[in-house]
Amino acid sequence: MSAWSEGYTSDVTYTYGYYNELNPINLTIPFLMAGLAPPKIENACELGFGQGISLNMHSATSNIKWYGTDFNPSHAFFAQSLANQIGSNKPVISDQGFNEFCMRDDLPEFDFICLHGIWSWISDENRHIIVDFIRRKLKFGGILYISYNTLPGWMTLSPVRHLLVEHKRLMSSSEHDSLVTARAALDYSKNILEMSPILCQVNPTLMPSVTQLLEQNSNYLVHEYLNQDWHPMFFAQLEKWLEPAKLSYACSAKYLDDFSGCLFTTEQVEFINQIQNKSFAQTVKDYMLNKQFRCDYWVKGSLALSQTEMIEQWKKLRIILVVARSDIVKTISNTLTTNLLDEIFDPILDILSDYQIHSVADLLESLENKVEINAIFTALAILFGKKDIRLVQDDDIIAQVKPRCNALNRYLLDKAKNFGGTGEIVASPVTGEGFLLTELEALCILANQSKLAQDKWTDFIWDIFKAKNRLMIKDGETLTEEKENLAEIEKKKNLFIEKRLKIFQSLGIID
Ligand SMILES: C[S@@+](CC[C@H](N)C(=O)[O-])C[C@H]1O[C@@H](n2cnc3c(N)ncnc32)[C@H](O)[C@@H]1O
Repeated sequence: MSAWSEGYTSDVTYTYGYYNELNPINLTIPFLMAGLAPPKIENACELGFGQGISLNMHSATSNIKWYGTDFNPSHAFFAQSLANQIGSNKPVISDQGFNEFCMRDDLPEFDFICLHGIWSWISDENRHIIVDFIRRKLKFGGILYISYNTLPGWMTLSPVRHLLVEHKRLMSSSEHDSLVTARAALDYSKNILEMSPILCQVNPTLMPSVTQLLEQNSNYLVHEYLNQDWHPMFFAQLEKWLEPAKLSYACSAKYLDDFSGCLFTTEQVEFINQIQNKSFAQTVKDYMLNKQFRCDYWVKGSLALSQTEMIEQWKKLRIILVVARSDIVKTISNTLTTNLLDEIFDPILDILSDYQIHSVADLLESLENKVEINAIFTALAILFGKKDIRLVQDDDIIAQVKPRCNALNRYLLDKAKNFGGTGEIVASPVTGEGFLLTELEALCILANQSKLAQDKWTDFIWDIFKAKNRLMIKDGETLTEEKENLAEIEKKKNLFIEKRLKIFQSLGIID
């Protein structure tokens, strides 16, 4: 553990995640559904950006000026290597701890501050520093995105976390790195639980949870469970923390977490609706769902929209379908499974199935007298929550950010070619966000960029595999014969051409 890391894991780097809730463009629909005006975002800040994938994606794809810090210098260095590809509008990246960064006097006031996977894993002292930063640096009308481990959902698993840190504190060798320490702590905890029948009887989720943890990505495990600090909290506790910064709850950053239809029974909805205090209603929902993790938007002052204003805001939006129509799942499953009604969703999807950009105003006009307007908004919000549709930026922004996205994508795809373990992701200038790819999709895009005819792609991809001694995996089995590998690549390539190529072209990812 390094001296600068304040008990936070520093010898093992974090995973290469991308989170589109950290993208201000994506607060628009949840805000409209909550009846709130989405503000214009010019300056944004990400605290604890990890590998900085989201930070760089959101800088490359927009004109928002981003700032960010993560005290792990390896994280900051990787993030900077991405930023160097972007050219203009690259993010301002720092490797300062929150204690230093938040005291800087050269930072602007922000319209948007975000922290993902931070709040529950830092000390009270750092929480105070962050709240004070938000108090001073978030403009009125500004938005905080914050995610955190939630109670009561984590209550049942806290005995496991306790065993893991105690094992690390008392029984691990300082010579071992955190990955070895985490595995040893998990194995030992499993042994303890096997000898704790009374506890496991009262809390039957413990043992299966430990078994599941043993299968998880080790870097994630270390960052989630083995830090000195780990403080899940109730909604009301977070609300109290954020009070000095004058923040109030706006809505979930994931619309489907606010859509009762797939969460609560009619009886539960009636119960919740009778609760006068909105904050307490959130706590009650967390109990009903045994919520473990929340990703929310909080506002420093808000503007409520009238129904007319809300409709006007919707009409200004443009959307695009980013999932093949044949792959769209016509149910939403959360705690409950709800069917999407054909009579509402089919006419919408019929229009969007050309995978071109559509304005919501045009969509409303086409569906007038066919689908009720609020049902259209809810359907669009659901499709957005399911990530079937995305919002589209203004044409002038798309044109401005396209060269930056191309440069970043070239760099990221080249990494994918080397199977560098940094994840496969590309930036869309059209939607202003990152898109996760499978390895094969990334290589298909590379083949396309190399201007190869489609019938040459399979050999091109197989050559890359061979150069790196990689083999295809089918149904969990590694394919050892060349002809099996070629057949599997050919199958995946054809699927890509059939279902994804057109969409990636519309997204400005492929020319
Ligand atoms: C669980 S990771 C989440 C990373 C990123 N937000 C994501 O979700 O991919 C927490 C990150 O916060 C950083 N961090 C923790 N404490 C910090 C501090 N006091 N100052 C700056 N960065 C910190 C860590 O280095 C780590 O990258």
